[in-house]
Amino acid sequence: MSHMVSPSTILITGATGGIGGALALAYAETGKTLILQGRNSQRLNELVNECEALGARVVTGVVDVRQIEELSIWLKSVFSQQEIDLVILNAGVNTHIGLDGAGESWDAVKAVIETNVLSVMAATNIILPFMRVRGKGQIALISSLAAYVGLPITPSYCASKAAIKVYGEALRVGLSSEGIQVNVVMPGYVESEMCRQMPGPKPFLWTADKAARVIKKGLAHNQARISFPFPLNFGTWWLSVFPSALTGWILRVLNYVG
Ligand SMILES: NC(=O)c1ccc[n+]([C@@H]2O[C@H](COP(=O)([O-])OP(=O)(O)OC[C@H]3O[C@@H](n4cnc5c(N)ncnc54)[C@H](OP(=O)(O)O)[C@@H]3O)[C@@H](O)[C@H]2O)c1
Repeated sequence: MSHMVSPSTILITGATGGIGGALALAYAETGKTLILQGRNSQRLNELVNECEALGARVVTGVVDVRQIEELSIWLKSVFSQQEIDLVILNAGVNTHIGLDGAGESWDAVKAVIETNVLSVMAATNIILPFMRVRGKGQIALISSLAAYVGLPITPSYCASKAAIKVYGEALRVGLSSEGIQVNVVMPGYVESEMCRQMPGPKPFLWTADKAARVIKKGLAHNQARISFPFPLNFGTWWLSVFPSALTGWILRVLNYVG
């Protein structure tokens, strides 16, 4: 049985991006405190104005999540100052093998793993002791449907999102008896700068607002896995269980090979 959770204080990383910004606006209302992180301070300031206009109190942090020491200091400071009900670890980057299929650069691979995996695990490690003391809290990890199957165009991105998916699943079971909820979010294609930069087909593209509404609802119901849209979720799930030769053939037919 799921039960409704209405968080009062919400921390969102990557709030300056498409999905993060839409999530901030989805939670912004009187009585809520939003703690918003990003690197783009101009976009962060715009978002503060938009969220405050909706009645929310807003705190910001201009932090590079790849700088684990900086991230850790910032998180410890915000958690020491207030109780935080929900943390959405959403900051992320993507890379691909290039239009000529040459392959991913090592710098890009490092950026993907440091941002999408290491910073998420580091943040979780810092946050958990605070939530444990309180016996309460919720952590949402933004994975992707790309976690179900390795897409030839984006090897390290798929690997990073698969890592976060299983990490979240493991934490969820382990922490449930302590009152801490962990949710894995697996979006399909959602309008954002990251999505625009990606080559390849983008079937069932959703707006960021729609994605944010569905994520917020899923988190309120403490759904273990919040994955959408249905057709792509269903299709990519099957790709993870088919024999690999069949999956490879389907990916080639659908032009996902770069
Ligand atoms: N859009 C999709 O189709 C899709 C699908 C599945 C999953 N996702 C996931 O959804 C999440 C949000 O992506 P999005 O689509 O909204 O992309 P986006 O618009 O490009 O936003 C990415 C966000 O991550 C932040 N970020 C990246 N590197 C950072 C760093 N080193 N330090 C701090 N912040 C950093 C960016 O902040 P600054 O710009 O301020 O640096 C930005 O706020 C990502 O985890 C992504 O993998 C997206």
